[in-house]
This record gives sequence, C-alpha cells and structure tokens, in this order.
Amino acid sequence: MKILLVASSAREHAIAEALARSPQKPEIIAISHNRNPGLRAVATEHFQANIMDFPAVLDIAKNEKPNFAVIGPDDPIGSGLADALEGIGIKSVAPKKQLAQIETSKGFARNLLKKHGIDASPKFKAISIDPNLASALKEAKKEIHSYLEDELQGSYVVKYDALKGGKGVKLSGEHLSTIEEGVEYAVECLKECGRVVLEEKLEGVEFSLLSFVSGTQVIDMPTVQDHKRAYEGDTGPNTGGMGTYTDANHSLPFLSSADLARAKELNRLTAAALQKECGEPYKGILYGGFIAVKDGIRLIEYNARFGDPEALNILPLLSSDFVAICQAIIDGELSDSLVQFEKKATVCKYITPHGYPENKDQKGQEVRFPEMPANARLYFGDINEEHDGRLLLGGSRTAGIVGIGKTIDEAEKIAEDLCEKVEGPVRFRSDIGKKQLIDKRIKMMQELR
Ligand code: AMP
Ligand code: GLY
Repeated sequence: MKILLVASSAREHAIAEALARSPQKPEIIAISHNRNPGLRAVATEHFQANIMDFPAVLDIAKNEKPNFAVIGPDDPIGSGLADALEGIGIKSVAPKKQLAQIETSKGFARNLLKKHGIDASPKFKAISIDPNLASALKEAKKEIHSYLEDELQGSYVVKYDALKGGKGVKLSGEHLSTIEEGVEYAVECLKECGRVVLEEKLEGVEFSLLSFVSGTQVIDMPTVQDHKRAYEGDTGPNTGGMGTYTDANHSLPFLSSADLARAKELNRLTAAALQKECGEPYKGILYGGFIAVKDGIRLIEYNARFGDPEALNILPLLSSDFVAICQAIIDGELSDSLVQFEKKATVCKYITPHGYPENKDQKGQEVRFPEMPANARLYFGDINEEHDGRLLLGGSRTAGIVGIGKTIDEAEKIAEDLCEKVEGPVRFRSDIGKKQLIDKRIKMMQELR
C-alpha cells in the first residue's frame, strides 16, 4: 500500500500520522514546499516541491505509482489536482474541481443550497458581472448599495467570491464601518474577480462539523470549535486558527442535540445536492462551518478538505483504520462500522511566531519543543528542519500542540503545560479550552435563546 500525500501544513502531519497507524503499514510519499520535520519523520519519502506545480506533482506520482492520493490543502484541490491525478489513473481522497466549488466559490455554495431547498443560509445576494464593462459595474454598485442599506439594514458581510486564504471576508462593525465602505469593498471584489456575495451578518457561536463523504454516504467526525482571532479573549486580527477543542461526547458544551443533529443533516443534504448538481459523487472531506444562532443552525461556509487545526484534534482520536476509510471513500463503500473515534476530549493550541499574523519578523529564528508524553501530540506546520537538525520558524503557524484527556479541562492543562515549555520567539493563546472562555460561549447561547 502506497499513498501520495500532498501537504502544506500541520494538518498533513496529522493526516500522515493517522495513515501510518494503519495495520496496512502504508508507504507514505509526501510532497510539501518546506522541509517539514513531521512529514519527514512519518513519511517513507519526502519531496520538497511546489504543490501548485501540477506537472512536478504528476511526475512524482508517475514515478511512485501510489494506490491513491490524499490532497490536504484547499489551493491544489480548488485548482483541480484530483482531476489531474485521475488523468494519470490515480484516484484521490479530495473532490474534483467542479465539486470543490463548494469551497472555492461562496456564491456557488449559497446558490446550491437555495436551488436544492436546503434552508441554512442567511439572507444573501450573489452578484456576478463582467468587470470590464463599466456599465455593469455602475449598475452593480447601485444594487449593492440598496441591498446593504434596505435589505440588510447596515448589518452585513461582504465576501470575495474566490479563494483568498481566508482573508476575503469583511464584516460591518468590524472591518467596515459604513454602508459606503461596504459598497467600496464589494466593488473592489467585483473588479478583481467579477463576483461578490453580500450576506446578512449573523450573531451566534461558530463550530465545525467535518464528515467523510463518498457520494451520498456521509460519516461524521467529532464536532470542533476553532478560535480564529490572534489574541486572548477573541481579539485582534483573524488567523488561520489559533486553536481548537473537542469534547468527549463528540458534541460541544454550547450545542443542543437538535443543533448537532441539524448540522449532520445539512452535511448529508449538501453532499447529495453536490452529486445531483455536478453529476458525479463528492469524494473526500466535507467541512461545514456553522453558526448556532437564536433559532437554530446556519451555514457560514463549506470547505472541501480537513480543517487546520480541526484535523489535529480529530485524527488522534480516530481508532479505526484511516487507510481503509480512504479506500472506502474512493470505492463508494463508506459505512459507520469503518469509522470509530475515542470518547476523549482534546485541546489544540497553536504555537506561532510572536509577530503572527501581522509580520514575519521572527522568520528563520530557532525554536525548541519539549518531549511529548503519551497523552499529547505535536504537529509541525510552517517550520523548516535544517540539515543540522535545528528547527527554524517560518512566517505562519508553527506547530499545534494537542492535549488528550477525559475532559476538556484535563486536555487543556496538558496542552498548556507543554506550550509553556516551548523555547523561542513564539506565543500561543492560553485561553483556548479554558473554562472561562467556554462558559462565555454557553452564556452567549443562553442569552440569544
Ligand atoms: P468564511 O471565510 O466564510 O468562513 O468567513 C470568515 C469568518 O467571517 C467566519 O468564520 C465568521 O466569523 C465570519 N462570517 C462569515 N459569514 C458570516 C455571516 N453571514 N455572519 C456573521 N459572521 C460571518
Ligand atoms: N480552521 C479553519 C480552516 O481550516 O479553514
């Protein structure tokens, strides 16, 4: 059994480790842009290459002849790497380009749900124009102004409708203070890519539900809560995610059982809608980004891949054979009996350079990690292993440290204690997984409802 793993971050270190635990003892051929020490330790072979250079990836694949590929990051999935690999006879655990539009186009995702009668979106308007036509731009500007002012009454979200590394979404009251600023940003999006989505701004608590999907077969993973803001108390700029937690019952302390059941139902309905719309099955991971609001659950966005850090919490709990799950996704033979998760809680805290995400001033400086006990994991992200073994910081998130325990509290203490022992010009969010922050979410939901 040989598996090609296309990687960019700590998410794929966690994927590689889960694959390597399989009784099938797979050979793992990993490709990433950096000398990731985690991938290098777990993979049988590691190639340092640009994963967006498809001819280079295909050359490696042709030489290695893997049984299948796992593609981790959004960029190659969104640009059609699964299609390109299928062209040389290699199937992937990742959707093809057409199906990946569920992540790459927020307008596609909203319109798909609308067309298939899936009631989970806030009020929205997806606009698509030819940005070279001055008259179309002028017309759209009027339409945007009236939608933001009259329909959404100034409480709005403007979304760049193409991949933008998580940085295309701007909210009123946070990034944009007036209707005019909203219109200006929406017009900027139209000029850049010809598409923009305007949405009602929802109030509530966000969470992620990821599922293994093969067509209409959908098996859910434990629910996770991410923390996108850079600093303690959910302040500062948005990041790729500073840390995450899961609970031993695979739900979250602020969710009702009806909330969880509805989120699961939405992933099923969306997988089926994708198959109907695109005429072929979605095969890979479907990641629903939801928000629990006053009267239920709404969809914020879908991703076509594992989350980072979500995968760092989920995969260490997977006690069944991940390779068998991947094969079942590809063969259309997914079933509940293949997927088992330990009933434990996890807390992941990301170690990042001090300046992240604002600057890359610490890039190239050395970082040292403590030994991990059996109830913890260390997953390496944007970090480079030098030939002398030293580990040097990249500019982005460095490594996720995951504590695993009977309760969130126990898992948090394990993660926190290890994070404090990391040496170098780095930081982490101490509040993630702590009672105070979790109680704040529970209180917010109680107040809303
Ligand atoms: P997205 O890239 O769509 O996940 O958006 C990034 C972040 O913007 C989300 O994690 C939310 O915090 C926020 N966001 C997106 N859409 C909405 C919405 N309709 N209402 C409130 N917040 C939103
Ligand atoms: N944790 C956010 C993401 O992976 O998109």
